Amino acid sequence: MSDPAPLAVRGRVASDTEKHAAGPVAGSTDLLVCITCRTAGAPPTLLEDAPRTGAVLAQRLARAALPPGVRVVPVECLSNCNRGCTIALRGGDRWTYVYGDLNPDTDLDALIAGAARYHASKDGLVPWRERPEHFRKHCIARIPPLSSTQEVPHV
Ligand code: FES
Repeated sequence: MSDPAPLAVRGRVASDTEKHAAGPVAGSTDLLVCITCRTAGAPPTLLEDAPRTGAVLAQRLARAALPPGVRVVPVECLSNCNRGCTIALRGGDRWTYVYGDLNPDTDLDALIAGAARYHASKDGLVPWRERPEHFRKHCIARIPPLSSTQEVPHV
């Protein structure tokens, strides 16, 4: 299978060095986009030669006006294949959030607004009412920051 789409970072094609060396920047937000996602529920045989929906989403985000400090990071399978397209937001000392069921045709604005809210937060915990509706209804997982230290409860 050929590469579904050129990898892009902030609206341009990333070099091989960037693809492998670009780690998280302190205080920045990584918008991870699964570029291997297909539209959920679509028969794979009909879509074999079609561009991956996740690659389309990544390309559109890379061309969009993202908030300063938010960068698109193309990745392969985030293990949420039955509910693609899938993205994750991570960065700084924030909680990481994974969202699914994204449609590049209808959810781009909500995704960008949600990424902006996330980026503006100190800990990634955006108040429920301030989250785009899609984020409220299609959160797949949240993962605590690396600095999180919680002890195993005594039961
Ligand atoms: S292919 Fe996108 S989550 Fe698996």
